[in-house]
Amino acid sequence: MTIHIGAAPGDIAETVLMPGDPYRARWAAETFLTDARLVNEVRGMLGFTGTYKGERVTIQGSGMGMPSLSIYANELISQYNVQSLIRIGSCGGMQEHVAVRDVIIAMSASTITSPSSGIFREVNYAPTANFDLLAAAVAAAKAKGTKTHVGGIYSSDVFYSERPDLDEQMVRHGILGVEMEAAELYTLASRHGRRALAILTVSDHLQTGEALPAEDREKTFGDMVEIALDAAFA
Ligand code: HPA
Repeated sequence: MTIHIGAAPGDIAETVLMPGDPYRARWAAETFLTDARLVNEVRGMLGFTGTYKGERVTIQGSGMGMPSLSIYANELISQYNVQSLIRIGSCGGMQEHVAVRDVIIAMSASTITSPSSGIFREVNYAPTANFDLLAAAVAAAKAKGTKTHVGGIYSSDVFYSERPDLDEQMVRHGILGVEMEAAELYTLASRHGRRALAILTVSDHLQTGEALPAEDREKTFGDMVEIALDAAFA
């Protein structure tokens, strides 16, 4: 047990999917895993372990934002020996060719700041996905026929941006979408020699203002969970 995860040693699989929302962790575990059981409920940040096609997997909520994700990822890595961490979440679309419902597989994640910024000082470190997971996710998405984009995203500390100029620079530089967790996940995984990837569903669009209707969220989220699971065990 750690400060924020109540699971017994051995209750967490080597592969962990991390949605921001703990209720999505429960939905994904109940929908896609066999014999899923609750392994963490500290602070309501639910985690479940079960099997997918015979492989053990945990789905653990990360909370919103890099500081929250950092707590769970650090404890999963250092105390539970987790080897592969795959964020499954939503993002805001930033390019015209990226539509609501599309999936983004994040090759890199830019930031202004992250919980790790302090240790890099003058270096503009480039948080990068694990290539094997990335390639496997791209193949899984293609096999499923999901409209998918692969490229850079932006991990922000704020949902409500006061920097339209910054959003504009991100768009100019080809950033596909904005979310709030991936950069720190990639940085922590690299630091500890683990594999990480973020797979995101576009839930809203910064240019068009379009948003995913509530009734569509489950289906699009489900496609992303299956892509993550297939990539994890490819
Ligand atoms: N900004 C930041 N994070 C997000 C967004 C957004 O527009 N949509 C989903 N996650």
